[in-house]
Amino acid sequence: MTRPVVHVHGCGRAARSVLRWLLDNDQVEVGQVCNRSLDSAAEAVEFMGAGRPVEELDHEITGGWLLLGLPDGELDGLARGLACRMPGQPELAFHLSGSTSATVLEPLGTPIASVHPVRAFSDPAQAVAGMSGTWFVAEGLPETCAQLEPIFTGAGGRWLTLGGGDKALYHAATVVASNYLVTLTQLARNLATRAGLESESAAELLGHLQATTLAGLEGLTPAQALTGPIERGDLTACTRLVEAVDQSDPTAGRLFRTLALATLDLAIEKRGPKPSDPPLRQLLSR
Ligand SMILES: NC(=O)c1ccc[n+]([C@@H]2O[C@H](COP(=O)([O-])OP(=O)(O)OC[C@H]3O[C@@H](n4cnc5c(N)ncnc54)[C@H](OP(=O)(O)O)[C@@H]3O)[C@@H](O)[C@H]2O)c1
Repeated sequence: MTRPVVHVHGCGRAARSVLRWLLDNDQVEVGQVCNRSLDSAAEAVEFMGAGRPVEELDHEITGGWLLLGLPDGELDGLARGLACRMPGQPELAFHLSGSTSATVLEPLGTPIASVHPVRAFSDPAQAVAGMSGTWFVAEGLPETCAQLEPIFTGAGGRWLTLGGGDKALYHAATVVASNYLVTLTQLARNLATRAGLESESAAELLGHLQATTLAGLEGLTPAQALTGPIERGDLTACTRLVEAVDQSDPTAGRLFRTLALATLDLAIEKRGPKPSDPPLRQLLSR
């Protein structure tokens, strides 16, 4: 099988992790690698074990694939800038953003797509080790997505196409599911340590609770999986919790009450209304 040669403009955490994983699974070759600095491009090449660091992409990108692994804010300007001084004609171009449309690459005048890896890349080496089974959400020209799909699924990824959907809302969904889970973990750990638990024990205890909650969600709707004082309609317990969090940290208190209101809606969906719901809503809306 002839493997596509991928040239990279912007080979940071996400691009170098994805490419290293595709290389490890014999799906691609890596050609030119261009970052803001040559040192950084050389570092990316060393991490991937393939590619050639360059200061500027050159005509040899013709016929290869061009990956723009830049931060979202840079994609538009760079695609426009590159369009004026495009050194060659790649077969296709794609980026990795979950919120920016593939159309940002239109100025390049080549078939375009975006492939969003649905995972975090804070530590590239760790990310590469856990890439198998990662979801990739694609949008752009159907034929370009179809060219990219077998490379990603062939390496062991899972593929989904976002055809004509609202990309920003899709990205918001992933932010809530992933980033906010991290924020909520910090909030829970803070409350537990303020309650007097030692921080390592708090992290272990809450981590186990989170893992079992996520496992319990499999095959159920969130409403079906919901338990706790709000689901039980226990006004006394809820009042005690809200007052304790408010006293501990007013900012955390506001977040706690906002999430409790959303949880109350979910509880009503599950068990129907209870007489305690109106006073509970009043308490949470304060
Ligand atoms: N990080 C994640 O968890 C994650 C997950 C999914 C998708 N993504 C997507 O992946 C894309 C890249 O994010 P990232 O986190 O990998 O960013 P990053 O680690 O900051 O890497 C960005 C890279 O782009 C290079 N760069 C920036 N401006 C440039 C320019 N004008 N010319 C050439 N190179 C330039 C930087 O070069 P220097 O090293 O020289 O500064 C850096 O290597 C974004 O679209 C993001 O939404 C990221």
